[in-house]
Amino acid sequence: MKTLLMVKPDIVENGLFGEIIALVLRSRFKITNLRMVHLDVGTVERFYEVHRGQEFYPSLVEYVSSGPVVAMEITGDNVIAAIRTLVGETDPGVARPGTIRHMFGISIQRNAVHASDSPESAKKELAIVFGGS
Ligand code: CMP
Repeated sequence: MKTLLMVKPDIVENGLFGEIIALVLRSRFKITNLRMVHLDVGTVERFYEVHRGQEFYPSLVEYVSSGPVVAMEITGDNVIAAIRTLVGETDPGVARPGTIRHMFGISIQRNAVHASDSPESAKKELAIVFGGS
């Protein structure tokens, strides 16, 4: 099973993305692909298609397309649920200590990372970021 973990632009810009990669490397999972890429507006719109129509969608698209992201394909048993547990709640203000969002998130939008929430989303998101992998 595979998932996508994507470090958002502000954490790439400030250099803390290395600490997030290190957390994944210390887990039982394997990073099987890794890419730093500046996604354009149209690509981010497709990536977050499920949120189109939400009031936060335009600013989310602007933010995630504002600079390079670091995307990881992570592989292992039960990886989708496990990585979401490591990531924590969407809102860093309620994410539990020890989670990535508790440590690196600064607001509900600037919440450090995105992680796929289902096998279907993982397949779609990995294809968008890695071009069909
Ligand atoms: P992510 O896991 O990348 O998936 C969708 C993103 O939308 C989410 O993390 C947040 O960055 C953002 N988001 C979700 N809900 C809100 C909200 N209420 N206000 C602003 N941004 C949000």
